[in-house]
Amino acid sequence: MNQTADGEIIHFDNVGLRYGTDREVLSDLSFTLYPGSFYFLTGASGAGKTSLLRLLYLAQRPSRGMIRMFGSDAITLPRDRLPGLRRRIGVVFQDFRLVPHLSAFDNVALPLRVAGVAERDIAKPVADMLDWVGLADRMQARPATLSGGEQQRVAIARAVIARPDMLVADEPTGNVDPDMAIKLLRLFEALNRLGTTVVVATHDVHLLQKVPESLIMRLDRGRLSDPTGALRYPPRRPTASGGMPAGMPMGYSAGAPAGTAGGKA
Ligand SMILES: Nc1ncnc2c1ncn2[C@@H]1O[C@H](COP(=O)(O)OP(=O)(O)O)[C@@H](O)[C@H]1O
Ligand SMILES: [Mg+2]
Repeated sequence: MNQTADGEIIHFDNVGLRYGTDREVLSDLSFTLYPGSFYFLTGASGAGKTSLLRLLYLAQRPSRGMIRMFGSDAITLPRDRLPGLRRRIGVVFQDFRLVPHLSAFDNVALPLRVAGVAERDIAKPVADMLDWVGLADRMQARPATLSGGEQQRVAIARAVIARPDMLVADEPTGNVDPDMAIKLLRLFEALNRLGTTVVVATHDVHLLQKVPESLIMRLDRGRLSDPTGALRYPPRRPTASGGMPAGMPMGYSAGAPAGTAGGKA
């Protein structure tokens, strides 16, 4: 899975969104997200964070404006091309949306199976990922038997396992304790270092300081402000690999032997 080469992963031009006939919940959004960057999307409850993420993962079309994604016009894209685009995006939903009749293991394995990865290449990366998020002994559990925090961690493992080009996470640490929140952020950072563009929505301003290289998008009643200039200029930080902490699960990547990153190879 490759990044688009043209220096942007997503571009919004004058995008607005209204639900039904109500006032706009998002207005005049114009910005570019750059490959390999780490964005926090902040703003008070009701500011429009979830709505903006839904536009990013193509669950919602805007009421006006233009969205370009991975080099394609996302507005006029034929329906049959949507799944292909969506497969490049890992999503952590605020309400998890795990498949109820599948075990934690099978939920996390799902994106790899959909992508046609051979069963023999699935077990280790999935187990490593579940181990990292603290669920080594809950792999066979069904979602209904897991706590909210455990379900959230399964949802995160599922979103990152296939190393998507973009990760979109909606309040992904809302149900876990502070230590686990840091650990999950480290996982997002590791994925980011491998080249994934990360967008994490959170109303928790303390999280922002935990990722020094992150860029801030701030929503205030449906309008974006740009306190760090992140949305105007391509970030200076080169997308670097290496320096991965030992034991970090790397998910599955075609070409690289699964589960061998993190210094264990
Ligand atoms: N499906 C919907 N139909 C109508 N209004 C909605 C819908 N989803 C969200 N809204 C409204 O849009 C605004 C932004 O909501 P949301 O995107 O969920 O914000 P946030 O995630 O920042 O809390 C709120 O006023 C909310 O009530
Ligand atoms: Mg929300």
